[in-house]
Amino acid sequence: MIDHNPLWGAELDHIRLDTADPSKTAAFYRDAFAMSEKSLADGSTLLQGEERRLIVGSGIAGDQPYSAFRFADETRLAAYRAHLTAQGMNLMPSPTPLFSDGAFAVSDPDGRQMVFGVIDPAQDNGGSPEGHPPHPPGRMQHVVVATADLAAMMAFYEDTLGFVATDHVLRDDEDGGQTLTAVFYRSTREHHSFAMFLSDAARPDHHAYEVSCWNDIRDWADHMATLEIKLWWGPGRHGPGNNLFFMVEDPDGYKVEISAELENMADDDPVRQWPHNERSLNLWGPGWMRV
Ligand SMILES: [Fe+2]
Repeated sequence: MIDHNPLWGAELDHIRLDTADPSKTAAFYRDAFAMSEKSLADGSTLLQGEERRLIVGSGIAGDQPYSAFRFADETRLAAYRAHLTAQGMNLMPSPTPLFSDGAFAVSDPDGRQMVFGVIDPAQDNGGSPEGHPPHPPGRMQHVVVATADLAAMMAFYEDTLGFVATDHVLRDDEDGGQTLTAVFYRSTREHHSFAMFLSDAARPDHHAYEVSCWNDIRDWADHMATLEIKLWWGPGRHGPGNNLFFMVEDPDGYKVEISAELENMADDDPVRQWPHNERSLNLWGPGWMRV
Protein backbone atom coordinates (compact mmCIF):
# COMPACT_ATOMS: atom_id res chain seq x y z
CA MET A 1 0.00 0.00 0.00
CA ILE A 2 2.61 2.52 1.12
CA ASP A 3 4.98 1.70 -1.78
CA HIS A 4 2.37 3.04 -4.17
CA ASN A 5 1.22 6.00 -2.09
CA PRO A 6 2.39 9.23 -3.74
CA LEU A 7 2.06 11.15 -0.45
CA TRP A 8 4.49 8.82 1.32
CA GLY A 9 7.58 10.63 2.61
CA ALA A 10 5.95 14.07 2.83
CA GLU A 11 6.83 15.85 6.09
CA LEU A 12 5.33 18.82 7.87
CA ASP A 13 7.53 21.82 7.06
CA HIS A 14 5.66 24.78 8.55
CA ILE A 15 2.25 26.21 9.32
CA ARG A 16 0.78 29.70 9.29
CA LEU A 17 -0.87 31.12 12.41
CA ASP A 18 -3.02 34.24 12.25
CA THR A 19 -3.61 36.69 15.06
CA ALA A 20 -4.96 40.16 15.70
CA ASP A 21 -1.62 41.11 17.31
CA PRO A 22 1.15 39.68 15.10
CA SER A 23 4.02 41.44 16.85
CA LYS A 24 2.99 40.01 20.25
CA THR A 25 2.48 36.49 18.88
CA ALA A 26 5.72 36.57 16.89
CA ALA A 27 7.62 37.68 19.99
CA PHE A 28 6.06 34.81 21.94
CA TYR A 29 7.22 32.16 19.46
CA ARG A 30 10.62 33.85 19.07
CA ASP A 31 11.27 33.70 22.80
CA ALA A 32 9.37 30.56 23.88
CA PHE A 33 10.61 28.35 21.06
CA ALA A 34 14.01 30.00 20.47
CA MET A 35 13.51 31.16 16.92
CA SER A 36 14.74 34.15 14.95
CA GLU A 37 12.22 36.68 13.67
CA LYS A 38 12.21 38.04 10.12
CA SER A 39 9.71 40.21 8.21
CA LEU A 40 8.51 38.78 4.91
CA ALA A 41 7.53 40.74 1.80
CA ASP A 42 3.81 40.07 2.26
CA GLY A 43 3.79 41.64 5.72
CA SER A 44 3.84 38.36 7.64
CA THR A 45 6.63 37.28 9.99
CA LEU A 46 8.84 34.21 9.66
CA LEU A 47 9.94 32.53 12.89
CA GLN A 48 12.76 30.12 12.28
CA GLY A 49 15.01 27.85 14.34
CA GLU A 50 16.81 24.60 13.74
CA GLU A 51 14.35 22.25 11.98
CA ARG A 52 11.42 24.47 12.88
CA ARG A 53 9.74 27.44 11.30
CA LEU A 54 6.32 28.99 11.15
CA ILE A 55 4.71 32.08 9.71
CA VAL A 56 2.70 34.51 11.86
CA GLY A 57 0.27 36.71 10.00
CA SER A 58 -2.47 39.24 10.59
CA GLY A 59 -5.98 37.78 10.75
CA ILE A 60 -8.47 36.12 13.06
CA ALA A 61 -6.93 35.31 16.43
CA GLY A 62 -5.90 31.70 16.70
CA ASP A 63 -6.71 30.87 13.07
CA GLN A 64 -4.38 28.45 11.29
CA PRO A 65 -5.13 28.92 7.59
CA TYR A 66 -2.68 26.42 6.12
CA SER A 67 -0.25 23.59 6.83
CA ALA A 68 2.66 23.11 4.43
CA PHE A 69 4.12 19.66 3.76
CA ARG A 70 7.41 19.24 1.89
CA PHE A 71 8.55 16.58 -0.52
CA ALA A 72 12.20 15.60 -0.82
CA ASP A 73 12.49 16.69 -4.45
CA GLU A 74 10.64 18.08 -7.47
CA THR A 75 10.09 14.62 -8.96
CA ARG A 76 8.07 13.49 -5.95
CA LEU A 77 6.13 16.74 -5.94
CA ALA A 78 5.29 16.39 -9.64
CA ALA A 79 4.07 12.83 -9.10
CA TYR A 80 1.86 13.98 -6.25
CA ARG A 81 0.48 16.87 -8.32
CA ALA A 82 -0.39 14.37 -11.08
CA HIS A 83 -2.07 12.11 -8.50
CA LEU A 84 -4.36 14.93 -7.33
CA THR A 85 -5.02 16.26 -10.84
CA ALA A 86 -6.10 12.79 -11.95
CA GLN A 87 -8.76 12.90 -9.22
CA GLY A 88 -10.09 16.21 -10.54
CA MET A 89 -8.79 18.22 -7.59
CA ASN A 90 -8.77 22.00 -7.86
CA LEU A 91 -5.13 23.00 -7.33
CA MET A 92 -4.62 26.55 -6.07
CA PRO A 93 -1.54 28.77 -5.94
CA SER A 94 0.69 28.15 -2.93
CA PRO A 95 0.15 30.77 -0.20
CA THR A 96 3.59 30.23 1.37
CA PRO A 97 6.73 32.12 0.35
CA LEU A 98 8.93 29.34 1.78
CA PHE A 99 8.52 26.79 -1.03
CA SER A 100 9.95 26.84 -4.57
CA ASP A 101 7.92 27.53 -7.70
CA GLY A 102 5.71 24.53 -8.39
CA ALA A 103 4.20 24.37 -4.90
CA PHE A 104 0.42 24.30 -4.78
CA ALA A 105 -2.47 24.19 -2.31
CA VAL A 106 -5.74 22.32 -1.96
CA SER A 107 -8.66 23.23 0.27
CA ASP A 108 -10.06 20.68 2.74
CA PRO A 109 -13.80 20.35 3.54
CA ASP A 110 -13.42 22.80 6.45
CA GLY A 111 -11.80 25.41 4.19
CA ARG A 112 -8.27 25.03 5.54
CA GLN A 113 -5.50 24.72 2.97
CA MET A 114 -2.95 21.96 2.70
CA VAL A 115 0.13 23.11 0.80
CA PHE A 116 2.60 20.78 -0.90
CA GLY A 117 6.00 21.82 -2.19
CA VAL A 118 9.78 21.65 -2.05
CA ILE A 119 11.91 23.90 0.16
CA ASP A 120 13.20 27.07 -1.48
CA PRO A 121 16.86 27.11 -0.33
CA ALA A 122 16.86 30.92 -0.39
CA GLN A 123 14.27 30.90 2.41
CA ASP A 124 15.94 28.31 4.63
CA ASN A 125 18.59 29.39 7.12
CA GLY A 126 19.07 25.75 8.13
CA GLY A 127 20.39 26.45 11.59
CA SER A 128 20.04 28.00 15.00
CA PRO A 129 18.86 31.56 15.21
CA GLU A 130 21.57 34.14 15.62
CA GLY A 131 21.85 35.69 19.01
CA HIS A 132 20.11 32.84 20.85
CA PRO A 133 21.99 30.55 23.22
CA PRO A 134 21.93 26.84 22.30
CA HIS A 135 18.59 25.20 22.97
CA PRO A 136 17.36 21.63 22.95
CA PRO A 137 16.30 20.45 19.50
CA GLY A 138 12.70 20.85 18.39
CA ARG A 139 11.65 19.68 14.92
CA MET A 140 8.26 20.81 13.69
CA GLN A 141 6.62 17.40 13.36
CA HIS A 142 2.81 17.35 13.44
CA VAL A 143 -0.24 19.56 13.18
CA VAL A 144 -3.73 18.78 14.44
CA VAL A 145 -7.16 20.25 13.72
CA ALA A 146 -10.64 19.87 15.19
CA THR A 147 -13.69 19.36 12.99
CA ALA A 148 -17.45 18.92 13.26
CA ASP A 149 -17.54 16.78 10.10
CA LEU A 150 -15.13 13.93 10.66
CA ALA A 151 -16.57 11.77 7.85
CA ALA A 152 -15.99 14.37 5.13
CA MET A 153 -12.56 15.23 6.49
CA MET A 154 -11.54 11.57 6.64
CA ALA A 155 -12.65 10.99 3.05
CA PHE A 156 -10.56 13.95 1.93
CA TYR A 157 -7.41 13.25 3.93
CA GLU A 158 -7.41 9.48 3.39
CA ASP A 159 -8.96 8.87 -0.01
CA THR A 160 -7.91 12.03 -1.84
CA LEU A 161 -4.64 13.11 -0.20
CA GLY A 162 -3.40 9.66 0.82
CA PHE A 163 -2.71 10.04 4.54
CA VAL A 164 -2.49 6.61 6.22
CA ALA A 165 -4.61 6.09 9.34
CA THR A 166 -2.57 4.86 12.31
CA ASP A 167 -4.99 5.03 15.26
CA HIS A 168 -8.72 5.60 15.77
CA VAL A 169 -10.31 6.78 19.04
CA LEU A 170 -13.86 5.51 19.54
CA ARG A 171 -16.57 6.60 21.98
CA ASP A 172 -19.21 4.11 23.14
CA ASP A 173 -22.68 5.54 22.55
CA GLU A 174 -25.74 4.92 24.71
CA ASP A 175 -27.48 3.09 21.84
CA GLY A 176 -24.71 0.50 21.75
CA GLY A 177 -22.99 1.98 18.72
CA GLN A 178 -19.66 3.76 18.54
CA THR A 179 -18.63 7.23 17.35
CA LEU A 180 -15.18 8.01 16.00
CA THR A 181 -13.77 10.98 17.95
CA ALA A 182 -10.16 11.20 16.70
CA VAL A 183 -8.01 9.90 13.86
CA PHE A 184 -4.20 9.98 13.72
CA TYR A 185 -2.57 9.96 10.27
CA ARG A 186 0.96 9.26 9.09
CA SER A 187 2.82 10.15 5.92
CA THR A 188 6.17 8.67 7.02
CA ARG A 189 7.03 5.95 9.53
CA GLU A 190 6.30 8.37 12.40
CA HIS A 191 2.97 7.64 14.13
CA HIS A 192 1.32 10.84 12.93
CA SER A 193 2.19 13.97 11.00
CA PHE A 194 -1.45 15.09 10.99
CA ALA A 195 -4.48 14.29 13.15
CA MET A 196 -8.03 15.45 13.66
CA PHE A 197 -10.41 15.51 16.62
CA LEU A 198 -14.20 15.58 16.52
CA SER A 199 -15.51 18.84 17.97
CA ASP A 200 -18.54 21.10 17.76
CA ALA A 201 -16.91 23.27 15.09
CA ALA A 202 -13.91 23.43 12.79
CA ARG A 203 -10.99 25.01 14.58
CA PRO A 204 -7.21 24.76 14.88
CA ASP A 205 -6.10 22.40 17.65
CA HIS A 206 -2.31 22.38 18.11
CA HIS A 207 1.05 21.75 16.50
CA ALA A 208 4.11 19.99 17.91
CA TYR A 209 7.88 20.07 18.01
CA GLU A 210 9.58 16.68 18.39
CA VAL A 211 12.68 16.52 20.60
CA SER A 212 15.21 13.75 21.10
CA CYS A 213 14.59 12.58 24.68
CA TRP A 214 12.96 13.12 28.04
CA ASN A 215 15.78 15.40 29.18
CA ASP A 216 15.00 17.75 26.28
CA ILE A 217 11.45 18.03 27.60
CA ARG A 218 12.87 18.95 31.01
CA ASP A 219 15.12 21.56 29.43
CA TRP A 220 12.30 23.10 27.39
CA ALA A 221 10.10 23.19 30.51
CA ASP A 222 12.91 24.91 32.41
CA HIS A 223 13.22 27.37 29.52
CA MET A 224 9.47 28.08 29.69
CA ALA A 225 9.88 28.61 33.44
CA THR A 226 12.50 31.32 32.91
CA LEU A 227 9.93 33.13 30.74
CA GLU A 228 7.16 32.47 33.31
CA ILE A 229 5.16 30.51 30.73
CA LYS A 230 3.09 27.94 32.62
CA LEU A 231 2.68 24.44 31.25
CA TRP A 232 -0.98 24.15 30.17
CA TRP A 233 -1.10 20.32 30.03
CA GLY A 234 1.37 17.67 31.05
CA PRO A 235 3.98 16.44 31.31
CA GLY A 236 2.32 13.21 30.33
CA ARG A 237 2.36 10.39 27.83
CA HIS A 238 -0.22 10.03 25.06
CA GLY A 239 -1.77 6.62 24.34
CA PRO A 240 -1.85 6.97 20.54
CA GLY A 241 1.77 7.67 19.54
CA ASN A 242 3.10 6.75 23.02
CA ASN A 243 4.87 10.12 23.07
CA LEU A 244 5.93 12.09 26.11
CA PHE A 245 4.62 15.64 25.97
CA PHE A 246 3.72 18.94 27.50
CA MET A 247 1.72 21.81 26.03
CA VAL A 248 1.72 25.58 26.46
CA GLU A 249 -0.67 28.22 25.14
CA ASP A 250 0.32 31.09 22.86
CA PRO A 251 -1.13 34.59 23.50
CA ASP A 252 -4.37 33.63 21.67
CA GLY A 253 -4.80 30.38 23.59
CA TYR A 254 -3.69 28.22 20.65
CA LYS A 255 -1.92 25.12 21.99
CA VAL A 256 1.70 24.20 21.22
CA GLU A 257 3.30 20.87 22.15
CA ILE A 258 6.81 19.65 22.91
CA SER A 259 6.96 15.88 22.26
CA ALA A 260 9.49 13.05 22.54
CA GLU A 261 9.60 9.32 21.85
CA LEU A 262 6.86 9.44 19.19
CA GLU A 263 6.29 5.89 18.01
CA ASN A 264 7.53 4.65 14.63
CA MET A 265 5.21 2.32 12.72
CA ALA A 266 5.85 -0.56 10.34
CA ASP A 267 4.50 -0.01 6.84
CA ASP A 268 1.85 -2.73 7.13
CA ASP A 269 0.65 -1.96 10.67
CA PRO A 270 -3.17 -2.05 10.73
CA VAL A 271 -5.25 0.77 12.22
CA ARG A 272 -5.49 0.40 16.01
CA GLN A 273 -8.41 1.40 18.21
CA TRP A 274 -8.41 3.33 21.49
CA PRO A 275 -11.33 4.04 23.83
CA HIS A 276 -12.48 7.66 24.11
CA ASN A 277 -11.32 8.44 27.64
CA GLU A 278 -8.77 10.48 29.55
CA ARG A 279 -6.36 7.57 29.78
CA SER A 280 -6.03 7.31 25.98
CA LEU A 281 -5.13 10.98 25.76
CA ASN A 282 -2.79 10.89 28.72
CA LEU A 283 -1.67 7.59 30.26
CA TRP A 284 -0.28 9.53 33.22
CA GLY A 285 -3.26 11.60 34.25
CA PRO A 286 -5.86 14.14 33.16
CA GLY A 287 -6.88 14.30 29.50
CA TRP A 288 -7.81 17.20 27.22
CA MET A 289 -11.26 16.08 26.09
CA ARG A 290 -12.40 17.96 22.96
CA VAL A 291 -15.89 16.39 23.11
FE1 LIG B 1 0.14 16.43 19.36
